[in-house]
This record gives sequence, structure tokens and C-alpha cells, in this order.
Amino acid sequence: MQLEDIRNISVIGAGIMGHGIGLTYALGGYRVVLNDTREEILTNAISHIRNELKTFAESGLISQDMIEKTLSRLTTTTDLKEAVKDADFVTEAAIEDVGVKRKIFTDLDIFCPEHSILTSNTSSLVLRDFTSQCKRRDKILITHWFNPPHIVPVVEVVRGEETSDETMELVYALLKKVKKLPVKILKEIPGFVVNRIQTGMFREVWSLWQQGIASPEDIDLAVKGSFGFRLAAIGPLETCDLGGLDLWYGIADRLFKVIDDAHQPSEALKKKVEAGELGLKSGKGFFDYSVDYFTKGQDERVKTRDNKFIQLLKLLYSQ
Ligand SMILES: NC(=O)c1ccc[n+]([C@@H]2O[C@H](COP(=O)([O-])OP(=O)(O)OC[C@H]3O[C@@H](n4cnc5c(N)ncnc54)[C@H](O)[C@@H]3O)[C@@H](O)[C@H]2O)c1
Repeated sequence: MQLEDIRNISVIGAGIMGHGIGLTYALGGYRVVLNDTREEILTNAISHIRNELKTFAESGLISQDMIEKTLSRLTTTTDLKEAVKDADFVTEAAIEDVGVKRKIFTDLDIFCPEHSILTSNTSSLVLRDFTSQCKRRDKILITHWFNPPHIVPVVEVVRGEETSDETMELVYALLKKVKKLPVKILKEIPGFVVNRIQTGMFREVWSLWQQGIASPEDIDLAVKGSFGFRLAAIGPLETCDLGGLDLWYGIADRLFKVIDDAHQPSEALKKKVEAGELGLKSGKGFFDYSVDYFTKGQDERVKTRDNKFIQLLKLLYSQ
């Protein structure tokens, strides 16, 4: 199959990730079918997509007329067979449950046309966990998007043990066509690249917080305004080059001996989770979120975040 042969895309699971992935492909000109288990979830997904397109238009990323044009390319159904019968390309973004994903991929392998490429947005599983029963394993890989998927530029394209070169190249080209920044992950390892690096940072961040080295506000500010600021423009390896590898070698030689190397998440964090302090969704995490915020303002907070991200996107990545 060639890139031009991809016309119809189906997204299975229309939650936080699935609806944004569907939005991205529809905005890129594809006919998109969204599938989920209940009608109300699909209605919600379309309403989120409408709001997000409005935010795009308000910020000048797209023209006003693209809102209705994009929505007209989206349809929904709770029937998986119906959702994928004409699909050239499928992304599964259902819940992170190996049994659910295995069942979906078993069905996709049967219901999809023979030429369809199947992808999963799993964050923590490897393909053999849920696709070993499929016949078309050369046409299956992981596309790992980041939340919010319609805004964050990078998508990790993760090659499974049996993924063909052709599938890898086609998916890479498709993501470029819808203006994402695909990154090829050549060997499938848990956490891929981004989550391994990010989780390494979280280990030290949680340790500093647990030891009371700085306040949560100051830890966040220190990161946002220093290497966070830098990393939006240059990557970590370029950072090493610009600072000098001898300098960074010396720093690592001294600090590797003292930074956290725990094999379990921090005890203090475990206590927070057990106490139901889960962050925005429970009203308290490292910071407090007022009841108002939670009941009336959750979308407002997400909108504020998205507006900041869109400013960055325009500054750094819009052509
Ligand atoms: N949330 C993130 O930040 C993030 C980032 C990257 C990857 N992911 C991955 O993306 C996937 C989806 O995560 P999410 O955050 O969107 O979850 P979510 O809970 O918001 O959405 C999952 C959706 O899947 C639906 N679903 C469950 N069983 C289904 C089935 N059999 N058929 C169709 N739909 C079904 C649910 O009804 C729900 O709407 C997971 O694999 C997750 O690990 C999430």
C-alpha cells in the first residue's frame, strides 16, 4: 500500500487520547470513524473535538471554516465491525488492559480489509502481549502519542519484532502528512524512549520533594525555567554538546553517586496515592485544586494549558 491509498482511518477508543488522535487525522483530510463502547462516550468525544477545533481557530492555527469541514469528516459507531470495514489504517486507543487490547486486535484482524495497517497507542505494553494471535503481524506497530495528542508534536513509531520496513515507512509518512513529528523507535522496549527518560526525571523529582529539598512550587519552577525552557528548543544530547561533554562527564561522575537510584516509586508518593490524593481529578495532589476548579473549572484549566501549548507549537513548529 502507498500513502495515497490511505483514505479511511478508524480510531478504536474515543477517550482522552482517541478523540485527539481522530481529530488530528480528520484535520489532515482523512475520513475518520471513531468507535467506543457507548454512544454517550462518542457524543462527548465529538463535543470535545468541536471545542478543541474552536480553540485552534481562536489561536489562528486553523481557519474558522475548517471547524465544520473537519467535523464533517468524522463519524461514530459503537459497532467495531462497522467501524473498520473500510479502514485502510486503524489506531487502537482503548483502555490500557491487555485482555481488552488482545480482544480488539483479534477482531480487527478479522474485520479489517486485508491491506489495513493496525496500530496501538499503548504506553506500557509490547506488541507480542496482545497481537501474537494476529495473522498480519508485519502490518502492526505502536504509534505512541502524547497528551494532548492533537497538540503535542511528537509521536513515537515503535517497531515490533515482526513489523515490516514497508509498514514502518508508511506510518512514518502518514504521521508527517498530518503534521506530527514522528520518531522511529527501532527496538521495542518498555517505556520506549520518552517515558523512560521522563520517568528517570520523576524518580529524582519525587525524591527531592520527599526530602523537602525545595517546595513543590519551586521544584516545578526550577525545571520549567531552566532545562525545561531549554529542552523545548534543543534536545538533551545537543545540550551536552553545547555545554561540553567533559563538563557533563564530570557532573555525572560526581552526581550519579548521590542521585536517587530507587527501584520502587517513592514511599511518600505511594502514601499520597493510597490517601486518594491523585491530583486534579481528586482535588488534591502535589497542589490543591479548589472544589470550584474541580466542579466548574476543570475544562478551564485544560484550556489554559492547551493555549500555552498552542503558543509554543506556533513558535517552534508551525510552518
Ligand atoms: N492518557 C495519556 O496521557 C496517554 C498517553 C499516551 C498513551 N496512552 C494510552 O492510550 C490508550 C488510551 O488511554 P486514554 O488515556 O485515552 O484512556 P481513556 O480511559 O480516556 O479512554 C479509553 C477509552 O477506551 C474505551 N474502551 C474500552 N474498551 C473498549 C473496547 N473494547 N472497544 C472500544 N473502546 C473501548 C473506553 O470506553 C474509553 O473511552 C491507553 O493504551 C493508554 O495507555 C495514554
